[in-house]
Amino acid sequence: MHSFGYRANAVLTFAVTILAVMCTIASLSDNLNVPSPTADVKVLNINWFQKQPHGNDEVSLTLNISANLQSMFTWNTKQVFVFLAAEYETQQNSLNQVSLWDGIIPSKEHAKFWIHTTNKYRFTDQGSNLRGKEFNLTLHWHVMPKTGKMFAGKIVMPGYSLPEEYR
Ligand SMILES: *[C@@H]1O[C@H](CO)[C@@H](O)[C@H](O)[C@H]1NC(C)=O
Ligand SMILES: *[C@@H]1O[C@H](CO)[C@@H](O)[C@H](O)[C@H]1NC(C)=O
Repeated sequence: MHSFGYRANAVLTFAVTILAVMCTIASLSDNLNVPSPTADVKVLNINWFQKQPHGNDEVSLTLNISANLQSMFTWNTKQVFVFLAAEYETQQNSLNQVSLWDGIIPSKEHAKFWIHTTNKYRFTDQGSNLRGKEFNLTLHWHVMPKTGKMFAGKIVMPGYSLPEEYR
């Protein structure tokens, strides 16, 4: 006859094994989900565009950000972190990335949205490179699962540009 301690241990080991198998299946089935998110951003207005006293360009934009990220949500998704970045090239750097807005999407019901907003974070260049600058708006996301690895992706929306003159 097995002692009580031995049996408790066997039950615990079994439970932990089941849990590990479930977690593996959870993250595997997550990998099988191929999300097809969509996003669209319209620059509704250039509120102002200036060279700051210390010499850096800064612009204030009003944006309409719309996205449908519902396909990213599986039963294993805890939440999704998203941020919108302006990305552009300068002589000094092949990639300048300025975060303009971010948010946390807690559930599938909230994953289809549009938001009318000015840039939440400052759109400032390290220099005076923004006049006439072409830029991309890129929606980046990080999916935080309940179990398994976090994964990230993005949608690049090219073809935006800033005015030639400060205003
Ligand atoms: C923002 O975009 C959404 C989706 O394209 C649209 O339904 C909505 O009317 C727009 N809002 C504004 C203020 O432009
Ligand atoms: C902007 O997007 C275009 C098209 O996807 C890409 O070729 C270009 O490298 C992007 N620019 C930057 C600065 O990321």
